[in-house]
Amino acid sequence: MARIHASIVDLIGGTPLLELQNYRRKRGLGARILVKVEYLNPAGSVKDRIAWALVRDAEERGLLKPGGRIVDVTSGNTGIGLAAVAAARGYGAKFYASDNISPDKIRLLEHFGAEIVKVENSFFLDPNALEKITERIRAENPEAHFTDQLANPANPKIHYETTGPEIWRDADGQVDAFVAGVGTGGTISGAGRYLRERNPSIRLVVSEPGPGSLPTEEDPYPAEIDGVHKVTEVEAFQLPGNYDGSLVDEVIALETAEAAEAARALAREEGILAGTSAGATLHAATLLARRPEFEGKTIVALLPDSGERYLNARAFRLAEPQAALQAAE
Ligand SMILES: Cc1ncc(COP(=O)(O)O)c(C=O)c1O
Repeated sequence: MARIHASIVDLIGGTPLLELQNYRRKRGLGARILVKVEYLNPAGSVKDRIAWALVRDAEERGLLKPGGRIVDVTSGNTGIGLAAVAAARGYGAKFYASDNISPDKIRLLEHFGAEIVKVENSFFLDPNALEKITERIRAENPEAHFTDQLANPANPKIHYETTGPEIWRDADGQVDAFVAGVGTGGTISGAGRYLRERNPSIRLVVSEPGPGSLPTEEDPYPAEIDGVHKVTEVEAFQLPGNYDGSLVDEVIALETAEAAEAARALAREEGILAGTSAGATLHAATLLARRPEFEGKTIVALLPDSGERYLNARAFRLAEPQAALQAAE
């Protein structure tokens, strides 16, 4: 029997859950860490899930017509996923992105045929940045369909319907903690809510960038962890609409160099090439796995994308020994 798929949208999801056996053995970790390998989605990230969900929802509600155009703000992955889905479904795509995201992502967006509007990274220092960029997108693109990944409920919904159930099923109901970063909040809010319903005592943990990894007035272009934001000490109106902080038990702050180091360990010890925010979830999961209370337990960390997306990003090279770094500059 032939097994031929009709569109890339049929290839989204169903990503594997992988146990980090070498990584655990090397560190003598008491808990088992399982990683959800989201770079195996067809356009290379967890965001393919929401890309298709946002487009399908708009099609079903008659908001997106054949030949129409999609627009959103993105740190790269949602844009790449949306651009791929747009190509497959016959739409145009335009994205607003910080000029501090990895150059590889810009090249990918261009390759998929998307139009890119670069926004100065310092713009995002404004406490009203999310509201302002939303207003700007609506004003500048009246003819386009704004998918609004930050607040569209179709985003956490697809994680509730797919990411969460896949993790629960593949771990055979053995999930004691789940770690994710927060960009839109869709992953932790959707998959987290599903997992909490299955296991009310699950620990839901967010890995967030620490102070040295965030832009400031003095340094608007630090080596950032692409795609994730700080959620603590932030006013509620500054958080994305899709982030449900009431679900979260703990937030672990870490620096870009720690995330990059974990991503490097993953590559060298397990052969898994994951991105910087994936390194961040793994670093946080490792801290949990060292705690006596997690002895013999299972921690799931979500790996949003591939390290190939950051080969030219300064953040990714932070894990290299100083000599190699200097030679590369
Ligand atoms: C690389 C990366 N990691 C993590 C996230 C966070 O995912 P979510 O938007 O579901 O909170 C994103 C989203 O922008 C991302 O691009």
